[in-house]
Amino acid sequence: MCGIIGYTGNLDAKEVLLKGLSQLEYRGYDSAGIALEDGKGDVSLYKQVGQVANLKEVCQNAGIPLSHCGIGHTRWATHGGVTEQNAHPHQAGKVTLIHNGIIENYHELTDTYHLQGQLVSETDTEVAAQVIDHFYDGDPLKAIHSALEVLKGSFAFCILFADIPERIYCVRNVSPLVAAMSEQGAFVASDLTALISYSSSYFIVPEYHIMVMEKDHITLLDEQNQPVKPEMLEVNWDVESAQKGGYPFYMLKEIHEQPEAIRKTVLPRIKDGLPDFEQEQIPDSLFRNCQNIAIVACGTAMYAGMVGKALMEPMLRIPVSVNIASEFRYEQPLADEKTLVIVISQSGETIDTLAALRLAKNLGAPVLSVVNVKGSTIARESDYVLYTHAGPEIAVASTKAYAVQLASMYLIACRMSFVRGRYTVQEGKAFIENLLSCVPAIEKILEQTDEIEKAAHHIKAASDTYFIGRGLDYAYSLEGALKLKEISYIHAEAYAAGELKHGTIALIEENTPVVAFATQSHVFQKTISNIREVRARGAYVILITKESAEIPEGICDIHFTVDAKNDQFTGLPTVVILQLLAYYTSLSKGLDVDKPRNLAKSVTVE
Ligand code: F6R
Repeated sequence: MCGIIGYTGNLDAKEVLLKGLSQLEYRGYDSAGIALEDGKGDVSLYKQVGQVANLKEVCQNAGIPLSHCGIGHTRWATHGGVTEQNAHPHQAGKVTLIHNGIIENYHELTDTYHLQGQLVSETDTEVAAQVIDHFYDGDPLKAIHSALEVLKGSFAFCILFADIPERIYCVRNVSPLVAAMSEQGAFVASDLTALISYSSSYFIVPEYHIMVMEKDHITLLDEQNQPVKPEMLEVNWDVESAQKGGYPFYMLKEIHEQPEAIRKTVLPRIKDGLPDFEQEQIPDSLFRNCQNIAIVACGTAMYAGMVGKALMEPMLRIPVSVNIASEFRYEQPLADEKTLVIVISQSGETIDTLAALRLAKNLGAPVLSVVNVKGSTIARESDYVLYTHAGPEIAVASTKAYAVQLASMYLIACRMSFVRGRYTVQEGKAFIENLLSCVPAIEKILEQTDEIEKAAHHIKAASDTYFIGRGLDYAYSLEGALKLKEISYIHAEAYAAGELKHGTIALIEENTPVVAFATQSHVFQKTISNIREVRARGAYVILITKESAEIPEGICDIHFTVDAKNDQFTGLPTVVILQLLAYYTSLSKGLDVDKPRNLAKSVTVE
């Protein structure tokens, strides 16, 4: 949610910022802007509505003088519409600033500091700039500290002060900021993707610490203005993995990276054929002692949790709940020290998930997080972390991160079953063999995309689509519907197949696409009956079953199969079909697959 970058050093700052903004664009792309400082304290602003490409074009033709220090921002609008005025950077007096987050008390601050009539935008960010400028009397640290006392909300700020050339001040609360120092200068950004081409080591700016960036060094100051040593981390991604590598869109590349991502996530955790979390220091007592499990997450990560529940409850015979993080955090959840809270997040920065995690810890529950981004806030604040190894996921629609979240659900379910005496060694080993067989099953799907493309051409004309299934199939259908709606803008609703006739079936008419899942043997015939019901009302049925399933003549218009011996393991290949269906539908509508409207990759505001 909003991408921010700052640079001071010996390179051309404009180039560093524009390149960084392109890499961060998945975080928001309503508008973009940069501020360049001329080495004497004069700051020039360049802003454009729309994608970073528009800003690049303007900057390329503007004859901008060389600058070695600047800040840049790509926006996901929260307060105020998508206009040039509302685009960042914002200026007030001597202060130029970019912001990711939300200043919750900006109305109140507008009154307190009599800002009415002075503001040129509708943003909370401009109010923050005004407040910092209000306190500024030549001492940036004092001004920032004073502002921090009155600003409420989440923020990551990069600030230029007009009379302090070549220096950038940064501070954050909740919203992420990572920084790196190299021979070329000092860099700060919302996330690593913009830094990895400059440095392989970085650090996370601690909350409420002020970071002062100069071209040859970075100073980190704690809340008492005492210098502290940053905790350096090593990047575990390479530059190539954050680029398109010949694919037309990141999403397609990431779909194809799933077999490798699953292997990387699963294989290092297998010892003697069973899942083993010794390296992660996740003790078996965590799994043995809990009486129930609460999975907490948002969006796709939450749907991975739905698969986790459908897997775990029958295996473990303890209650497993799946909670939407934004609900969990405000609805007095039932969790205590006997509840194992499993938090799932690709970015590790989703604000609702983070707040839910903090609440769970306050309630005394041990928290195990399944996170993709190393060193992210959720990972750092959890009691235990199981990192997924998807590498950087750039497309806004999550694909490979979901796949490895599912893989992690399998690993946890298996280890827990074993530890709790519900699985023998033999059963555990067979489970893991089945899990690994999902990799060739996915590869098989990736080799035959023509039929999926055909199905997409049928879907693209529809205004409504339905995804139906029972049990695990219902959990997959939720993710399938989300993928389709977010990148093709076609209404897609997932329904438990047996529930359809209690209302929603009224919406089925001639040619309405229904994606039906029947990979679960124990409810296969029941689902087939539900498909007959929609078919009788004219639905165009795309059916997914196991290869071994025998389907009645004429039950569907298109039939896809997945190679799985065991019903528990149909999810990974099935979901790849759904991802490709969404991808090709979006593509055939001529949409920007990687940057769907209104969305941003990492949701760091409420
Ligand atoms: C959808 C998607 C989102 C995220 C959700 C949680 O394709 O990507 O629904 O899954 O915003 O994000 P993380 O996993 O970063 O917490």
